[in-house]
Amino acid sequence: MRWLGFEESRALVIGAGGLGTACARALAEAGAKLMIVDADSARLKELSDDPVLAAADVRTLTVDLTSSGACEWAVTASARELGGLDVLVHAVGTNDRRPVVDTPDEVWDRIMTLNLSSAFWTGRAAGRLMREFGHGRMVFFSSVSSRLAHRHHAPYAASKGGLDQLIKVMAREWAADGVTVNAVAPGYTETELTRAYLDKPGMREEMTSLVPAGRLGTPEDVVGAVLFLASARASFVTGQVLYVDGGRTLV
Ligand SMILES: NC(=O)c1ccc[n+]([C@@H]2O[C@H](COP(=O)([O-])OP(=O)(O)OC[C@H]3O[C@@H](n4cnc5c(N)ncnc54)[C@H](O)[C@@H]3O)[C@@H](O)[C@H]2O)c1
Repeated sequence: MRWLGFEESRALVIGAGGLGTACARALAEAGAKLMIVDADSARLKELSDDPVLAAADVRTLTVDLTSSGACEWAVTASARELGGLDVLVHAVGTNDRRPVVDTPDEVWDRIMTLNLSSAFWTGRAAGRLMREFGHGRMVFFSSVSSRLAHRHHAPYAASKGGLDQLIKVMAREWAADGVTVNAVAPGYTETELTRAYLDKPGMREEMTSLVPAGRLGTPEDVVGAVLFLASARASFVTGQVLYVDGGRTLV
């Protein structure tokens, strides 16, 4: 792990769900000092039972990231607590699968706020700090839904398509300041976000049949891509969306 250069790194992981926790564990194993932010304080408490995280330098903060002020505060308070900010991983998101004609405004607003606006608000706050420090790495979670027209995914797909463009503009604006901004785009991965859907009769098999690799993703599958993009080794990679999907977007 030394090759990736995370010793002394100060990392903020936003989201303690399936993918956020896997990234936090990997960053902790690589030697980073961590802050993990989530709205669910019970979930954050559970992290202290994780042997990897319990053995590392990890703090947690409970914040509902659905407003600009809360996102701004979460980033600045984390940077203050960590003594700086080298890495931001944004791994919160939600979905609600319905046909377009049955999607009320409240659902559209809720998904766009958490998936896209919180990325903008936290990215903007981290960008201000990282530009000042003269370096930084941001990794956001996009999805194969940003590229594929999945039925019943209108707000989710729009939020991820928007995210792909958002990271490109941030990447361009901050490239000369040593700040890189990238995204990983997983295919269907088993977490709380997808469990109920995949548990529907026949759904796991149907989704698996669409993946050339012949299986769904696991949270551990995304970790290598996130660690690379967050590392010192990725200093000349910016504005990219890296698909971690077993070939799902090839077919
Ligand atoms: N799991 C997949 O198949 C998959 C595929 C592609 C992309 N993604 C993306 O990866 C990211 C992480 O997904 P995941 O599978 O880990 O989801 P998850 O449901 O396991 O975790 C999401 C986390 O977000 C937190 N959260 C929800 N609302 C919040 C709020 N208002 N403020 C703060 N935290 C809040 C939840 O408490 C939870 O810990 C999301 O952006 C998701 O869209 C997931």
